[in-house]
Amino acid sequence: MDRYALFEAYPGLAARLPRLPLGSWPTPLVAAPKLAAAAGLPFALYVKRDDLSSAVYGGNKVRKLELLLAPKAGGRRLVVTAGGLGSNHVVATAALASRVGLRTRGLLFCQPVTAQVRRNLLAAVALGADLRWVKDYPGVVAGYLAAIGEGLVANGRPPYVLMPGGSNARSSVGYLNAVLELAGQLREAGQPDPAAIFLPGGTGGTAAGVLAGVALAGLDTVVVAVRVVSANLLPEPKIRDLAAATLRLLARREPEIGRQLAKTGTLGRLAKPGAGGLFALEGGHVGEAYGFATSEGRAAVDLAWATEGLKLETTYTGKALAALLANAGGLAGGAGPARPVVFLNTFSSVDPAGVAVGTEPADLVARVPEPLRWCFDRPRRDCRCALAGQSRPFCEAVRSRDGWEWG
Ligand SMILES: Cc1ncc(COP(=O)(O)O)c(C=O)c1O
Repeated sequence: MDRYALFEAYPGLAARLPRLPLGSWPTPLVAAPKLAAAAGLPFALYVKRDDLSSAVYGGNKVRKLELLLAPKAGGRRLVVTAGGLGSNHVVATAALASRVGLRTRGLLFCQPVTAQVRRNLLAAVALGADLRWVKDYPGVVAGYLAAIGEGLVANGRPPYVLMPGGSNARSSVGYLNAVLELAGQLREAGQPDPAAIFLPGGTGGTAAGVLAGVALAGLDTVVVAVRVVSANLLPEPKIRDLAAATLRLLARREPEIGRQLAKTGTLGRLAKPGAGGLFALEGGHVGEAYGFATSEGRAAVDLAWATEGLKLETTYTGKALAALLANAGGLAGGAGPARPVVFLNTFSSVDPAGVAVGTEPADLVARVPEPLRWCFDRPRRDCRCALAGQSRPFCEAVRSRDGWEWG
């Protein structure tokens, strides 16, 4: 199904905003009463099942890639992007960019190597991605420059470059659309505006789109982005600025949106910390660093699976759900009946390339490029990351552990 709520609300936009249909919209909105009861939540909990956004590979990247891949589809052969070793974004790009004839090069930096990380590495290999181990953020920059140089020399033009997480104003439109979709689903279910929408915040593009959507739709809802990276990588203004840029992008293409924004003063509201009560960045669930599981996050993953059969993971969605559960008291509201709370499930529940967690087919492992093969060496007690010994915060966090997790 491909019902795009944004284009239904503003039909003129469809011709002025290229989108490559890749997903299945709307994604289901489901009540999660068993999870709510087990956690003692004093409100109705709904899960927006973006894990089912595509039968090829679900999760939050599909909405972004629809907008990112549409205008760039013609002519190029290679898309270059980056992420941690187990990047869902790299897997999603590898799975979906091939639809427009693009091969994916993934520049991978360090993160704790879990079973889920190895699974994504194998999936990316199975999907034909060209994986490069670049170790750290400076390595990512060098990797992008190298790819651009190679493209210019070989074809006279650079490859298509996507930032880590694929976050920008254009891709955030995908999550603005998700909110319009969600608002319609709640209306159909006879529910009021949700008190809050909880989701993980990595590069912030998903949260910015959700915030922009809540602001445009005029919902009385607080968007809670649960930060899973260090504060310097995801400061609060970054998300509000990106939300405002997303709305301005749409206003340039659809005068009605411009008029609506002017009338409601929405851009002024987004310029204020907390966006006038529409936004909160929850920073208490990162744990040691990006990619390190927390005990609350693990418990949330287990609870979601045991009660509702929802597959979450410990890097993003487990931490976001843990934050929701920890804030339940504050979300119950005042005297009147508690309004619902929505959890946005951003993690694909579709096995990428049929690689299930825990299965590591030897033929696929053999196809992992040699510089990344160490991720599959066991037992592993030491960090052989080339950065060990240098005082970079991430690496310090890695080295502070007795060994990495082999879940
Ligand atoms: C499962 C999952 N959830 C959330 C995010 C974070 O999204 P964003 O980078 O837009 O903040 C990611 C990003 O990689 C992800 O893979």
